Amino acid sequence: MTGIGLLGCGAMGGEIAGAVRDGKTGDARLVALYDQAPGVASALAESLGVDIPATDSIGHFLGNADLDLVVESASPDAVRAHAEAVLSAGKDLLLMSSGALTDPELSARLALLAVEGKRRVIVPSGALGGIDAIRAVSDRLDEVTLTTTKPPKALRGAPGFSEWELQTLTEPTVIFEGAALDAVRLFPANVNVAATLSLAGIGPTRTLVRVIADPASSVNRHEITAAGDFGAFRFEMELKPHDHNPKTSFLAVVSAIEALRSACSSGIRIGT
Ligand SMILES: NC(=O)c1ccc[n+]([C@@H]2O[C@H](COP(=O)([O-])OP(=O)(O)OC[C@H]3O[C@@H](n4cnc5c(N)ncnc54)[C@H](O)[C@@H]3O)[C@@H](O)[C@H]2O)c1
Repeated sequence: MTGIGLLGCGAMGGEIAGAVRDGKTGDARLVALYDQAPGVASALAESLGVDIPATDSIGHFLGNADLDLVVESASPDAVRAHAEAVLSAGKDLLLMSSGALTDPELSARLALLAVEGKRRVIVPSGALGGIDAIRAVSDRLDEVTLTTTKPPKALRGAPGFSEWELQTLTEPTVIFEGAALDAVRLFPANVNVAATLSLAGIGPTRTLVRVIADPASSVNRHEITAAGDFGAFRFEMELKPHDHNPKTSFLAVVSAIEALRSACSSGIRIGT
């Protein structure tokens, strides 16, 4: 059994922890919960009815001898602060805040630690489909564009949305157009999809991103277009937001659960 610990116990972490508890992630068991906000991890343990260490101390969390794989569902800051310590402690890492990996220096350090320690860093496709196809043709791509359309409430609090924060939008409005690298910086909690897409394909400086706020939309919409000498493709997704966090699409949660199940199971794997 793989011992699973949650780093980040919010909307996504709560669902993933519940899936592990319910035996939906293969040969895995929940062994630890950590969140930097005091009381959040223990509140989750209580609501799940599990008797496992729940802490706001990263030292206690990583010191847990039963912990094999850390699921990060917290923030890009959490990846910057703790990912190296996770790998150095000999744990595998499944991370959802993929925006942090657009920093090439951090990414290189994590890759080196993973190789040296024979550990895995797993980045699920999250709220996007088509990542497998992008990865397969990554050295044949000429252009990749992501257009993300969200209701304004899903963009609130982002540095890139600050000048629209007090405005009442009446029609779809282009909030940002530029490189994925800048999109991730300006919308750290909103466009991890841009990071994952760029890391699978032609990188964060060449991947183009458009962020649109649509006041009439109740869903998060992502459209990927890609072209190269292999041909071209277009993927479109219309995703319901998570009940507890409108910035997070429900698909991202089940993608994390499925990636975890795949990591903790033997047997046939389709599409990976
Ligand atoms: N890859 C994808 O497609 C995708 C999709 C949606 C969300 N995400 C990302 O997944 C992460 C979790 O999303 P969520 O909806 O559960 O968010 P959330 O805000 O509901 O929960 C995040 C939790 O992590 C904790 N946290 C934040 N920073 C921390 C740190 N430095 N150390 C420890 N704990 C910390 C918070 O206290 C909070 O309880 C976010 O970074 C989000 O951007 C990725």
